[in-house]
Amino acid sequence: MNKQLIETIKQQALIDKIPIMEEDGLNYVINYLKENDIESLLEIGTAVGYSSICFASSNPKLKIVTLEIDKERHSMAKENIRLANLEERIVPILTDARKYDLPDKFEVLFLDGPKAHNQELLEKYLKNLKEDGTIIVDNMFFHGYIDSPDLVEKKRLRPLVKKLAKFREDMLNHPDFESEYLEIGDGLLICKRRKRYG
Ligand SMILES: C[S@@+](CC[C@H](N)C(=O)[O-])C[C@H]1O[C@@H](n2cnc3c(N)ncnc32)[C@H](O)[C@@H]1O
Repeated sequence: MNKQLIETIKQQALIDKIPIMEEDGLNYVINYLKENDIESLLEIGTAVGYSSICFASSNPKLKIVTLEIDKERHSMAKENIRLANLEERIVPILTDARKYDLPDKFEVLFLDGPKAHNQELLEKYLKNLKEDGTIIVDNMFFHGYIDSPDLVEKKRLRPLVKKLAKFREDMLNHPDFESEYLEIGDGLLICKRRKRYG
């Protein structure tokens, strides 16, 4: 395990004000991946590689492709992945996830990138999700604003909060997914694709 390195990456991200997953949400996803024997995951939003390194470190069979738009963060992630000795199982790609295309299929699609584009990214990467795959989305609590929009003081945040609320509601009612909203960390949506019959 890369316990010491992971702690250093986390502390550095906090100092640099780089957003990373909250501990409870992270632990939930780590356990979900382990319990379900997940072997492939596509992550949108690498940041500095914290979540992907945590996922891969606690699940030796897991392979991850992770997309990041910011050059500096991508470089830091690459270095962190090298230090964690996970270069064979985590592939970080510097790209705009809204424009990227890849042919592979994954058991889990983890949306932790540009929040305003969750819906667009979900639609775009659905073709990369295996038939019985699961979509996991972070920040579905969004600091409490989604459930209490009156708390949003900054006017420019309001459209985003509205968008996230609609996305969460739509996924919870989506006919193709069995979705669950968990108030863990900053809120997780777990959406398992329903089996098709006939
Ligand atoms: C919440 S952070 C990811 C945190 C990371 N998953 C973790 O927990 O360690 C979101 C990241 O998405 C990246 N991002 C924003 N827009 C993007 C885009 N269009 N394509 C790829 N990455 C994007 C941001 O630069 C940021 O680093």
